Amino acid sequence: MTPDFIRQALRQVRYPGFSRDIISFGLVKEVTCEPGLTTVRIEVQTGDPTVPEQIFKDCHAVLETLPDVGTVQVDIEVKDAPAVTGLAGSVGKSSIPGVQRIIAVASGKGGVGKSTVASNLAVALAAGGARVGLCDCDLYGPSVAQMFGTRENPQANAQDEIIPIRAHGIQLMSMGFLLDERSPVVVRGPMATRYIQQFLRQVAWRDLDYLVLDLPPGTGDIQLTIVQTVAVDGAIIVTTPQEVALIDARKAVTMFGKVNVPILGLIENMAWFECDAGKKYFIFGEGGGVREAEHLQVALLGQIPIDVATRQGGDAGTPVALLEPGQNPVSAAFHEVAARLRAAVPC
Ligand SMILES: Nc1ncnc2c1ncn2[C@@H]1O[C@H](COP(=O)(O)OP(=O)(O)OP(=O)(O)O)[C@@H](O)[C@H]1O
Ligand SMILES: [Mg+2]
Repeated sequence: MTPDFIRQALRQVRYPGFSRDIISFGLVKEVTCEPGLTTVRIEVQTGDPTVPEQIFKDCHAVLETLPDVGTVQVDIEVKDAPAVTGLAGSVGKSSIPGVQRIIAVASGKGGVGKSTVASNLAVALAAGGARVGLCDCDLYGPSVAQMFGTRENPQANAQDEIIPIRAHGIQLMSMGFLLDERSPVVVRGPMATRYIQQFLRQVAWRDLDYLVLDLPPGTGDIQLTIVQTVAVDGAIIVTTPQEVALIDARKAVTMFGKVNVPILGLIENMAWFECDAGKKYFIFGEGGGVREAEHLQVALLGQIPIDVATRQGGDAGTPVALLEPGQNPVSAAFHEVAARLRAAVPC
């Protein structure tokens, strides 16, 4: 038996709640194989005691099926979680210089409207007087350039930081500014996490009250990298009322729970469609988000209907929340969500 063989086997052990394994995330610090004894030393940063327990159990389960391992000893050293802030009034703030609060917009399932919510929320927060940045953390499917109607290439400043692009008063960073529209992103796991760290730490975010993170769907590497590298003040989970989306929303809630990021609440998007005659059609089912928020004991921050102006605004680079709330019900809904958010996470 060799340490390499053991490491290979430990790739089957996932970080609880995530799709990434403990080897690729660098948690396994040392493996030794002596006759009759295999020792694994793991370091994990978390405030949740169930995380090391689960890793411990999973490591034993995997290693004990191997031949010639002898006694298996798994030592887990738990380090304090990175300074993650809680809700209103808590101590400690975002760990990105120039940024007071970091809000992640996430979902389990793709295509439920995260980028639409993140863009409109950014604009609505700014309309309330806050200084806002929006970081598109979806490297493989960036949307922010399109949704803000700009494809400017960012420049570097004298400190070699990337200067964010500005549109509609928001500081923006997205992979969409670095590549032309037709180029697919061809970066693999470790490179992707490096890009994300650059987006968060080597962009000259200036005097921001809120930095909104538009996350890719799911619970993968990028999400884990973000929560491990910066202190996210809270996460907003976007879902449609449909069961398939709600199942994944639950997973996202669990994931943030595992890394001690407070859930600020759910947003039920595409909640209904209202026709000209005022009749509501519940295309993806009625009340799924309301029930789920109750079930998960988190706030329902808002319900956003399916709306033509919202889709058009996204495609045209003018988020619907730029409209006066009185002019459009979806703009009004986003302004309400922004007000709730300011109350939950004040600057
Ligand atoms: N409330 C809404 N009314 C009408 N169209 C909407 C609404 N919300 C989102 N859309 C449209 O649905 C599509 C998907 O939305 P969006 O890109 O925001 O989802 P996403 O969750 O960010 O997707 P991905 O998982 O691919 O990142 C977009 O074309 C968007 O314009
Ligand atoms: Mg998106």
